[in-house]
Amino acid sequence: MTRTDSNFRSEKNRIHDAGDPLVIARAAETLRAGGLVAFPTETVYGLGADATQDKAAASIYAAKGRPDFNPLIVHVPDVATARKHVVFSPMAEKLADAFWPGAMTLVLPRVENCAVSKLCSAGLPTLAVRVPASTLAQDLLRSADRPVAAPSANRSGRLSPTRAHHVADSLGDRVDMILDGGNCPVGLESTVVGFGADDGAVLLRPGGISAEQLSDVVGPLTIAGADQPDAPQSPGMLTSHYAPRQPIRLNITNPGPDEALLAFGPDAPANAVANLSPTGDTIEAAANLFQMLHDLDALGRPIAVMPVPVTGLGQAINDRLNRAAAPR
Ligand code: TXA
Ligand code: MG
Repeated sequence: MTRTDSNFRSEKNRIHDAGDPLVIARAAETLRAGGLVAFPTETVYGLGADATQDKAAASIYAAKGRPDFNPLIVHVPDVATARKHVVFSPMAEKLADAFWPGAMTLVLPRVENCAVSKLCSAGLPTLAVRVPASTLAQDLLRSADRPVAAPSANRSGRLSPTRAHHVADSLGDRVDMILDGGNCPVGLESTVVGFGADDGAVLLRPGGISAEQLSDVVGPLTIAGADQPDAPQSPGMLTSHYAPRQPIRLNITNPGPDEALLAFGPDAPANAVANLSPTGDTIEAAANLFQMLHDLDALGRPIAVMPVPVTGLGQAINDRLNRAAAPR
């Protein structure tokens, strides 16, 4: 746990300071040349490639070991650019207006003759688009002047990266450049929203914008899942995902003697190794979740996690924890 991103840099020379304009220019050039660039966003680090090049999009799947039925999110700097690639419905307009730039992804029909590689849609007629809020991500997107496909920058099924060294640890030399922008402030992936036949919003993946925030704008939400077979689904919601190497048990208040306890709230037992939020704040807990899971995983002991309430970002936290604990 003592290794920092900067001393890793000298070891591998693949982590670059995202705040340096020359680095951004080189990263943009790497993307246009078909390379892979990992970059910070406000949610998690993304593994970016030029979304208009089939080979570049294919190399994302290869680097992550990602199943080819799981489509990618395409990142653009603003809603005007998004309109070149997808068709907005009235409900989608409302959501984009309320939450972009930010931690929300919209799944919308591709425009006719869409310039984005069909590989990004994995055989679906739709495309997922997001306008990230991170200024470093914005700088890269504007400099690349291409839509950038970017899943989370981890091997498929593993913990998501919220620091540059998580990317290096997981993907290593499978990526051409890693841009270091420090910690990702939201800490959870974007909320993915699709639209039903009546243009009703469907929550495909809980994430950095809470269901309550969405409902304030669009009214009642449909939750994708088994009881909504006709609603759009998200192919990426595989049951086991976000998995640490160590076994993990949830809703534990009395851990076993070997277990490293990840606590939540003010009533943490004294033997807890880390606390997602000592004050019981789900926003703070979201920001700490993946970092603390990476740290606990490195201890080499089974992990136990205290209960986290399902309100606010607690819904997305519980989604990630349930998948982390699912049978592999
Ligand atoms: O915050 C984020 O969303 C991060 C950062 C890098 O932007 N990206 C991310 O990408 O989490 P990824 O690939 O790990 O997750 C994308 C999710 C998957 O669950 C995928 O199945 C879903 O979005 N998705 C993508 N395109 C879709 C589509 N056309 N229809 C339904 N779901 C889609
Ligand atoms: Mg992911």
